[in-house]
Amino acid sequence: MNFRTSTAFPALVAMGLVGLHAPAMAQSQPTEAIVETMRTLSGKQKARPSGAKGQCFTARFTPAADAAKLTKSAAFAKESAAIVRFSVGGGNPKVADATKTVNRGLSLRIDPNGPGQSEFVMVNAPVNFVRSPAQMLAFLQARLPGADGKPDAEKIKAFTEANPETTNQGKYLASKPVPGSWVGQNYWAIHPYTFTNAQGAQQIVKFRFVPQGGEVGLTDDEAKAKPADFLVDELKGRLADKKPTGFDVVAILGNAADAQKPATEQWTDEDKRPTVKVATLTITGLEKNETCDGQIFDPTTLADGLAGPKNDPLFVERQPAYAISITQRN
Ligand code: HEM
Repeated sequence: MNFRTSTAFPALVAMGLVGLHAPAMAQSQPTEAIVETMRTLSGKQKARPSGAKGQCFTARFTPAADAAKLTKSAAFAKESAAIVRFSVGGGNPKVADATKTVNRGLSLRIDPNGPGQSEFVMVNAPVNFVRSPAQMLAFLQARLPGADGKPDAEKIKAFTEANPETTNQGKYLASKPVPGSWVGQNYWAIHPYTFTNAQGAQQIVKFRFVPQGGEVGLTDDEAKAKPADFLVDELKGRLADKKPTGFDVVAILGNAADAQKPATEQWTDEDKRPTVKVATLTITGLEKNETCDGQIFDPTTLADGLAGPKNDPLFVERQPAYAISITQRN
C-alpha cells in the first residue's frame, strides 16, 4: 500500500493525525515496510512498536531571555502549557523499567493547539541507531526470526559488520548507568534544526534537554533490586516532594558542515560547543494516557521560526511512519 495515495490519507489529514505538508519525495522511502517490520518484531500488539511502554504528563514550557535572539517562533515567545510522554524503548509494553539495552524517550508537545505548537520526539542518546529509513529497514529485517522462529545471529552479525555505525547508540547507552528516573536523563532531538529570528538571521542548532536535578543512574545491583515498573512512581514521588522535575533546554550551536553529519554520529567536539539556554521544561503532573495515545507526536510540527532538516529522509519519514502506526494501534 502506498500510504499517500491510499484513500485513507485525506481521512488521516482530516483526523489531524498527519499534516497536509507531507512532502511527495517519500514515495521512494520504505516507510510502510519499516512500520510493518517493527510491528512484526514486536508481535503486532495494540501498542506503539517503539516506545510501547510509557506515561503521559502535563508540563510547562518557559522560554529563556536569550531565545528571542535566535528565533521568532511563538513557542519561544511566551510561557505555555505542554504535554510530555516518557517512554521505555522497544515494542514491548511490559518491558522492565530497569532494562539497560533500550533507550528512554521524551516526546513533547509545546502549546497544544496554540500558535506556538511545536513537537519533539527525543531519546536519551546523542545519536540515532540508523542514519536513513533504508538502513532502518535493513536493520529491522536482519532481526526477523528465521525458519526456527529465532533471530539469525549470523545475519545480524553480517549486517552489523557492513553497518558498524548502527552500534553507536547502543554503545552510548551501554556506557551509561541504568536510568533511575525519567527526569534524571539528558535527551537529544538528534536532528540538526534551523532557528530563524525576527531579522531573518538563521542558526543551525542541536537540542539537548539537560536534567536540572542532575543525572540519576542505578548501579547494576540497584537495577536488579528494582520492580519491573518503578519510573512512574519515582516521578510521582518527585512531584509530591517538590523535587526537581525540570530540564534546561539547550541549543548547541552548529554550522552547515554539522548539518551534513549522519544521525548516527555526534558533531565534532559536540560537548565542548558553545550553547544557548533557550527554555526550561518543567513536569507539573500526571496526565491520563489517552491524551498522549490519541494523537501522534510529530517532530515535523514546528511553529514558524524553527525548522527541521527537510532534505533528510530520516527526519521527514517520521511523520508518515507515526501516522501509519497510530492507525494500527488504536
Ligand atoms: C532520530 C530518529 C528517531 C528518533 C529519535 C525516534 C524516537 C522515537 C520515540 C521516542 C518514539 C515513541 C513516541 C511516543 O512516545 O509516542 C518513537 C515511536 C515510533 N518511531 Fe521513531 N524515532 C526516530 C526515527 C524514526 C523513523 C525514521 C521511523 C520510521 C521511518 C520511526 C518509526 C517509529 C514508529 C512507527 C513509532 C511508533 C509511533 C506511534 O505509534 O505513535 N522512528 N520513535
